Amino acid sequence: MPLQNQFQYQNNQLYCEDAPLAAIAAEVGTPVYVYSQAALLERVNAYKTAVPPHSLICYAAKANSNPTLLRRLAAAGLGADVTSGGELFLAQHAGFPPEKILFSGVGKRRDEIEMALAAGIHSLHAESEMELNLIAKVAAARQQRAHISLRVNPNIRAETHPYISTGLKAHKFGVDRATAVRLFQFAATHPWLEPVGVAAHIGSQITDVKPYRESAKFLVTLADELAAAGIRLTYVDVGGGLGIDYDEEREAPMPGDWITAVSQPIIQAGYQLVVEPGRSIVGPAGLLLTQALYTKQQGEKQFLIVDAGMNDLLRPTLYQAHHPIWPVAQAADGATAVYDIVGPVCESGDFLAQARPFPPTRPGDLIAVMQAGAYGFAMSSNYNGRLRPAEVLVDGRQYQVIRARQQYQHLLDGSLEIRD
Ligand code: LLP
Repeated sequence: MPLQNQFQYQNNQLYCEDAPLAAIAAEVGTPVYVYSQAALLERVNAYKTAVPPHSLICYAAKANSNPTLLRRLAAAGLGADVTSGGELFLAQHAGFPPEKILFSGVGKRRDEIEMALAAGIHSLHAESEMELNLIAKVAAARQQRAHISLRVNPNIRAETHPYISTGLKAHKFGVDRATAVRLFQFAATHPWLEPVGVAAHIGSQITDVKPYRESAKFLVTLADELAAAGIRLTYVDVGGGLGIDYDEEREAPMPGDWITAVSQPIIQAGYQLVVEPGRSIVGPAGLLLTQALYTKQQGEKQFLIVDAGMNDLLRPTLYQAHHPIWPVAQAADGATAVYDIVGPVCESGDFLAQARPFPPTRPGDLIAVMQAGAYGFAMSSNYNGRLRPAEVLVDGRQYQVIRARQQYQHLLDGSLEIRD
């Protein structure tokens, strides 16, 4: 079933659910991230209804770790995939039960391993022999059995931007198959380690389900081989990475399509399915609302300078990512200009879109950068002394500020005011 679009025009004005974006901008100012609670929960439900019973959906907190959004996702029954002590802290604060928390990442520090063991999380995903050894040492010192899983690098190519492709052996992630077998054998005989699962994550913004099916089969074959050697794992985790509709021409697969592709080999072989989606849950539920400041013609180019920059949304700069951009007030005549839509940051790479056909725009006009709920605020910074944007959560006609815009004073103490 197609998900409902919670961002629609009514009388030529763009709304998030039943709240006009122009009203949010007038009250909260710009730039501001605006999220639709209905869109968020619809995506969660798409996952919940697609997975087989007893599966674990661990939301990848790195995509968006706003405390209010995390709280909604925990309340909806999801688990969390965390990648640092900070994310573990946020996940605990949001109420994710420890037995639904996974800790992924190539460089866990000792204090983070201690924190994870103290919290009693579901499993630590080790990504190297040295890291597994440290987990064993910390577990022994605490006299606590550590549930571990290994992230295996399946050497599978997935079409995406090279910076977010992770499943090839040239990448820093995971261990190769032979090392995994050896480390599982070590863990199985270690008094303070308990191997419980095997994981892979082949990349992000992947719009083809085929490599995932391959990855799931690879993991199941490995788990079966370990079972034959007496090491019985309970779960197979295919990671996250399902793409969303940044591309206006081509639709990404739905969560249900992805789950169908990966779950069959895992369930048939009798393992619990674990997935770690991030972007496909929050990405389509959010937009970045910004205001036009100036236009200028320079050489052949027409620049539209807006009040959001690469410090607010880094994706276009870092990955040459395309985000759909919509005017908040729709013009009746349908005329278009061609703009480079750029921010105020002092770098030529500071753009939200290049050579983009867009209605003629004047200072003060509002613009919505769509599909910005994931890796938007999460990757924002104070670069150029710019204040982090506010975040707003819409529910029907109502909306609330779930993170206040930073004030200049916060540049001195680094704080971000949460309204939870
Ligand atoms: N699990 C692991 C181990 C991961 O490293 C990631 C993302 C995920 C799950 C979630 O992947 P998702 O479902 O969100 O694709 N900043 C980049 C994306 C980096 C993704 C890093 N890892 C971007 O803006 O495209």
